[in-house]
Amino acid sequence: MNVLKLADLDVKGKRVFIRADLNVPQDDAGNITEDTRIRASLPSIKYCLENGAAVMVTSHLGRPTEGELNPEDSLTPIAVRLGQLLHKPVRLVADWVDGNFEVTPGEVVLLENCRCNKGEKKNNDELAQKMAKLCDIYVNDAFGTAHRAEATTHGIAKFAPVACAGFLMGGEIDALSRALENPKRPLVAIVAGAKVSTKLTILKSLADKVDQLIVGGGIANTFLLATGKRIGDSLAEPNLVNEAHAIMDIMKERGAEVPLPVDVVVADEVSALARGAKVSVDEVSPHDRILDVGPKTAAKLADIIAHAGTIVWNGPIGVFEHDQFAGGTKMLASAIAHSTGYSLAGGGDTLAAIAKFHIAQDVDYISTGGGAFLEFLEGKKLPAIEVLESRAKG
Ligand code: 3PG
Repeated sequence: MNVLKLADLDVKGKRVFIRADLNVPQDDAGNITEDTRIRASLPSIKYCLENGAAVMVTSHLGRPTEGELNPEDSLTPIAVRLGQLLHKPVRLVADWVDGNFEVTPGEVVLLENCRCNKGEKKNNDELAQKMAKLCDIYVNDAFGTAHRAEATTHGIAKFAPVACAGFLMGGEIDALSRALENPKRPLVAIVAGAKVSTKLTILKSLADKVDQLIVGGGIANTFLLATGKRIGDSLAEPNLVNEAHAIMDIMKERGAEVPLPVDVVVADEVSALARGAKVSVDEVSPHDRILDVGPKTAAKLADIIAHAGTIVWNGPIGVFEHDQFAGGTKMLASAIAHSTGYSLAGGGDTLAAIAKFHIAQDVDYISTGGGAFLEFLEGKKLPAIEVLESRAKG
């Protein structure tokens, strides 16, 4: 992808506006529970500071009502965390759109939740023009929000004097393109989750590209139904069995496959106290709920992963939050960690599984994107990247 990169620009003495994605999970008291996105945003901020730029950073947090800044929408905890990580105070600026604030070279300010500004979500040109006037260089480093055309992710890029990708954005584009455009084969994708319907486009698009498509969770149950298996009371979408069939047919025609479970772990409820039973996939009874793959299936999937050239992982294959249903995801995680292939993972649940099984150091690239990661894999053009491409053409 042809975009201007921050690393290639001279930022000395320039006013740099960085759109980051600092939308991190918080507990009920507002404490940050996971700060990967803040850490991942540091390289661009540090580069600008170290090279003498006056740095403005903004992000959205949650989905607030425009025109209001309620305490729970404030970036205050993010400013504190960013300050700790940068080892310098980070001033938080409210009402910043009209430029009524100072920022000097070598200083960084955090501009309050950009989604509280009227016109942000609708990508309003007037708002975008005002924001563009604040800077000499606009940096988009918010890969996690690259699938949204909003005033800070798209509009401002049209009007800023220079618009480029930050280090995080550039790294994401390179890693995801590498996995999809010219992957080392076999290319194995793991797509798991509750519903086929929410991941149908990605399943179809991957069906054309990958050598093995490992499905998990409710998605795998729908595929099992499509092959005539009984799945008891398991989560599935019977109305999508034809779609599941179509995907398996596309794969078969290319000599590729969707390896389905041969054994599963079932229980009659999803809870920490539920007792899991390992059964053959042909022995699922009407009240059973399939909550994980069994050991034979896990071993088969681990073998596929051990021979993969490239692995793309989105979604845990069992209810891994409870240990009795975590075996499949744990085996998969361990296989990915030991694989010599290039591994790429993304999505909130996947990151939680990576953390639980302590394999973060062993995955080649962990994307900060959720929806953006999926849309990129689907082959969609992400608006925030598209506008940077069009600016690079001049
Ligand atoms: C995310 O958490 O996936 C991104 O920050 C985008 O958030 P959004 O879905 O509220 O646009």
